[in-house]
Amino acid sequence: MLLRIPHLLTPDEIAECRRALGEADWIDGRDTAGYLSAGVKRNAQLAAQDPVALRIGALITARLGENPLFLSAALPQAIMPPLFNLYAGGGHYGSHIDGAIRSIDGGHRRIRTDLSMTVMLSDPADYEGGELVIEDHYGDRPVKLPAGDAILYPSTSIHHVTPVTRGGRLAAFTWIQSMVRDGGVRAQLFELDGAIQQLPEDETGQASRLRLSNVYHNLLRHFAEL
Ligand code: NI
Repeated sequence: MLLRIPHLLTPDEIAECRRALGEADWIDGRDTAGYLSAGVKRNAQLAAQDPVALRIGALITARLGENPLFLSAALPQAIMPPLFNLYAGGGHYGSHIDGAIRSIDGGHRRIRTDLSMTVMLSDPADYEGGELVIEDHYGDRPVKLPAGDAILYPSTSIHHVTPVTRGGRLAAFTWIQSMVRDGGVRAQLFELDGAIQQLPEDETGQASRLRLSNVYHNLLRHFAEL
């Protein structure tokens, strides 16, 4: 499931992210790529322990933690502290996979990457190219979103970022371990939750909301791994 999360960040927060990142120390993205990915990666990144990355990353994690759409879709068990990248001057990231397991907190904890997320920090008008392309059996799905929007997609997919031929593309990215490992089950829970939210406020709707919420929570109780 590909899901757009609109307006994760406010315009003020986007401006603050850009200002802080504009003064940050960018390093070659290949430094943080795995053996397979390093050969196809051409971008700049902030080091995971960079103070700007930690501060702006905490803001993004906080916004994710209070976003109903994200919480319903991802059912997060753990969110990796966000990282930041910049694509410019032909920068790109060829077809690659995201590793299944990532270390956080300096290697003291590990998470399983069920979901990948990119939070756009540049306006699409400010750069040419730079589409995130999710490759699935339906074909390539290019994604280009307004600043402040995020895209949530399965970490199981091969994906790439097309070359940025004008301007610069600034983004945050992270991975999520879900309480529900199976993406098909997670998608059904998301659908059920969405349908419950749309029930009418009248007496019949309230009665159905109670019963279906019971079903939702009993399914979550069955499938969740904590
Ligand atoms: Ni990736």
